[in-house]
Amino acid sequence: MKVDILTLFPEMFAPLKESIIKRAVEDQKVEINIINIRDFATPPHYKCDDEPFGGGAGMVMMCEPLFKAIESVMTPDSRIIYMSPRGKVFNQKYAEALSKFSHLILICGHYEGIDQRVIDYFHIEELSIGDYVLTGGELPAMVVADSVIRLLPNVIKDESKTEESFSSELLEYNQYTRPAEYRGMKVPDVLLSGNHKKIAEYRKEESMKITRKNRPDLLK
Ligand SMILES: C[S@@+](CC[C@H](N)C(=O)[O-])C[C@H]1O[C@@H](n2cnc3c(N)ncnc32)[C@H](O)[C@@H]1O
Repeated sequence: MKVDILTLFPEMFAPLKESIIKRAVEDQKVEINIINIRDFATPPHYKCDDEPFGGGAGMVMMCEPLFKAIESVMTPDSRIIYMSPRGKVFNQKYAEALSKFSHLILICGHYEGIDQRVIDYFHIEELSIGDYVLTGGELPAMVVADSVIRLLPNVIKDESKTEESFSSELLEYNQYTRPAEYRGMKVPDVLLSGNHKKIAEYRKEESMKITRKNRPDLLK
């Protein structure tokens, strides 16, 4: 998979150079390119935003640099996404669907957002990471990239994916590691029993309890 991220703030993307995503890049499971939209603006001022027609607060990202940046990476196979609080809300199912694509282009807005003609011309899908407003699309693009890349084959173990929260209607059970007792708090005996059937039953029960308490909507 190739992920091209279009942004005015390329330095914000250091988190994608760490841990599991770093390894996925090194192992060539994914190629990530951070593309500076300003490189496609016109010299000498490289202006990328202007006041909104019709008035109102803030600035709007202009067509020209965005058109050129998109056209520099787009192919017939590209899925183009604009990170936007107006979009459909992202979730694990969405991440699974996106992980099947060979090329994602993630556009990060800033200020009041981007000129509508960019969205209309390229038939871009708008995608939100939740019902709140952030200063820019950089964090949302990283959220989407991270959650999609970890689903690519051999990036993490298949087993981790089938047992985790949102892989079914249940949230994940509690996890424990060594030591078996810490400050008087003991790990549940069943997890030390070696009885896999009992462990599976216990975990399922815990998952049910946690889901009922925190996210009863998932059980409906
Ligand atoms: C301040 S926001 C613009 C909000 C826009 N004026 C509105 O009311 O819908 C600036 C940029 O941050 C990004 N953004 C903010 N919140 C987001 C969210 N919940 N999901 C995805 N992107 C978001 C978008 O790229 C947006 O263009």
